Amino acid sequence: MPGTEKAQALRDRKGGQRISVLTAYDYPTARLLDEAGLDMLLVGDSLGMVVLGFPDTTHVTLDHMLHHTAAVARARPRALVLGDLPIGTYPDPATTIDNARRLIAAGADAVKLEGGVRQAEKVATLTAAGIPVCGHLGMLPQRVREEGGYKKKGKTREQIDALLEGAHALVDAGVFAIVLESVVPDAAREITRAIPVPTIGIGCGENTCDGEVAVISDLIGSYPWFVPPFARPEADIASVIKGAAETYCRKVRG
Ligand code: KIV
Repeated sequence: MPGTEKAQALRDRKGGQRISVLTAYDYPTARLLDEAGLDMLLVGDSLGMVVLGFPDTTHVTLDHMLHHTAAVARARPRALVLGDLPIGTYPDPATTIDNARRLIAAGADAVKLEGGVRQAEKVATLTAAGIPVCGHLGMLPQRVREEGGYKKKGKTREQIDALLEGAHALVDAGVFAIVLESVVPDAAREITRAIPVPTIGIGCGENTCDGEVAVISDLIGSYPWFVPPFARPEADIASVIKGAAETYCRKVRG
């Protein structure tokens, strides 16, 4: 199914069955998650931390994203493949569309970028060109250095109104969904009620949005050195890998 149709089908889920999203950065994970029935696979720039070993997402380049998006796309998932536009790749509409087209050519069905009102013109340019776009509001990891850390959003009426303004601007520009990151639960619920496209929450509390996204390593426990407080691990892959490697090592040494 073309990316535009997959995006429309997810947009139509507003108010219906909740949308399940996990990040994927490689071929086998993408195949497994698709076989498990996920709705969307996000090739997130979180790969900078949990795969490439950088301290935050501000080190991720378009080449990193193209490489990992292509690996995920080789799994030919039924799920929508959402590729993150990394920091510095969407300064103006013309550059944004060039870079988004490269992500789509690498196999993404749709792209995601961070920010509200100031991104609306770029989003409108992308959607007019037939590229489905997912917005991202709340805590914006690409701004972590300016903000001095990962801070909760939507704590005051002023912050909620700014989020609502951003959400409406993105909807008017044509997004099919909006990720809400680290928004306090009541504010996430209010934004979800206010807009006609699905919200996909992370760190916003349970059942506050139309869907949820998690970073795969937080779910399977493959990055034990930092686990966000809102993570709900379902496996401990780090221990399994370490255990298997220790057994192998003992057997080789005799
Ligand atoms: O890069 C990423 O994994 C993300 C999620 C945190 C939503 O943008």
